[in-house]
Amino acid sequence: MAQKSSRSTSKPALLNEKFWSTFAKSHWEKKPLLVRNVKSDLLQMSADEIFDLLVLYADRCRDLNDPEGFKFFIDGAKADQEEVLQVLPERDDKSLLGYHERMESEFSDYCLVCDELLQVNLKKQQYLTEFTDALYRHVGFPNRFSEMGLYLGNYKKTPFGVHVDSCGVFSFPVAGVKKFRLWPAAYGDKHPELDRTFSYEKHKKHSQLLEVGPGDMTYWPSSEWHIAESDGSFSATWSLGVWVDQPHKDVFSETLKALIDTKMGSVGEKVTTSFKTLHSQNGEVSELPKEYRDSIELLKNLSPSELEEAFLQSWTKHISLQGFKTMPHTEVKIAPKSKIQLRNDHSMILWQQSLTNKKMYAFSFGGVQIQSTSAGLLKLIKALNTGKALVPGDFLKGATLKNDIQSLQALANAGAIQKV
Ligand SMILES: [Fe+2]
Repeated sequence: MAQKSSRSTSKPALLNEKFWSTFAKSHWEKKPLLVRNVKSDLLQMSADEIFDLLVLYADRCRDLNDPEGFKFFIDGAKADQEEVLQVLPERDDKSLLGYHERMESEFSDYCLVCDELLQVNLKKQQYLTEFTDALYRHVGFPNRFSEMGLYLGNYKKTPFGVHVDSCGVFSFPVAGVKKFRLWPAAYGDKHPELDRTFSYEKHKKHSQLLEVGPGDMTYWPSSEWHIAESDGSFSATWSLGVWVDQPHKDVFSETLKALIDTKMGSVGEKVTTSFKTLHSQNGEVSELPKEYRDSIELLKNLSPSELEEAFLQSWTKHISLQGFKTMPHTEVKIAPKSKIQLRNDHSMILWQQSLTNKKMYAFSFGGVQIQSTSAGLLKLIKALNTGKALVPGDFLKGATLKNDIQSLQALANAGAIQKV
């Protein structure tokens, strides 16, 4: 059954604490949701602002001769890289609709996808972060990440048919009307013929159709089968995918593996295992080879602080990406006399003191982690985290200056710092 639009009459819906706690309790990974007239900076971004971001991003791709971040589909088929560079938005298109008119004259069915578009504008990225921060506070921080993509075109159906992703999806239409057809997981399990299909006429009566326009928001859980439909008119939609395919056990064992790998040294590199006898005459296996016994000893000798430190550092590195796959990058050259500041007050450089060596610190930003014993660097970073503009040379001196500037540069490359 279709949920018809009632935008003109509905009161603005606030994404406040009450909204998010109800969302977490009743909808997250449970059932779809449609909200009309959502009041949020993220949804208030106009089609013109989005056009500007697209041109900025496309200009960068043209400069680098690399369309990374863009995908283009013609009649459902993915275009190759060179083709993509030919069809990106240009300043002369003047607006999203202008771009659409140019594309429509060539393609009766096209779809342009741009991932990470908000990376080109820190302020707009902040709107997204405010949204995801509130979401994470209520449903938990994703063990993988969230990705925001813009889908634009006149395509009548999702290019790859009905499908299910490993992510919960929030959709925010920017222009045009968008329809999402959904089937619950249990129905999809019973009807595997739905997978990747474009002909699902007989399954329609078991589906739910969400019809949305600019200002509205939909959500569906990762288990929901879905396809986007349109009558062939133009639409542009944000889609935020929150990946839920990384269970805690995987994250935990990955860190533990890295810790054990570093502890093992050359024994860990051995590709054959010495043995005396493989088994007794009656087939019993009762003795472990030396390599295994040594490695068990190594596990037993791990101290609680070593374990805690390994996990604390990997957790810090993970959260320093703020729940995204990548962070917006910058190019700044840091010198001792540069005046520098955090690029964004809300995005601090995270740090911790080592639990096993009190003189050692780990600093993390945007998935980059550096280790340092410099007390001056720690002082500088704490001061930067207050939001002040500072000169590194006032904090960093002597023999460690060169190394400290390199560390700062690594954090700046990850997007933490700007010059003022
Ligand atoms: Fe999807």
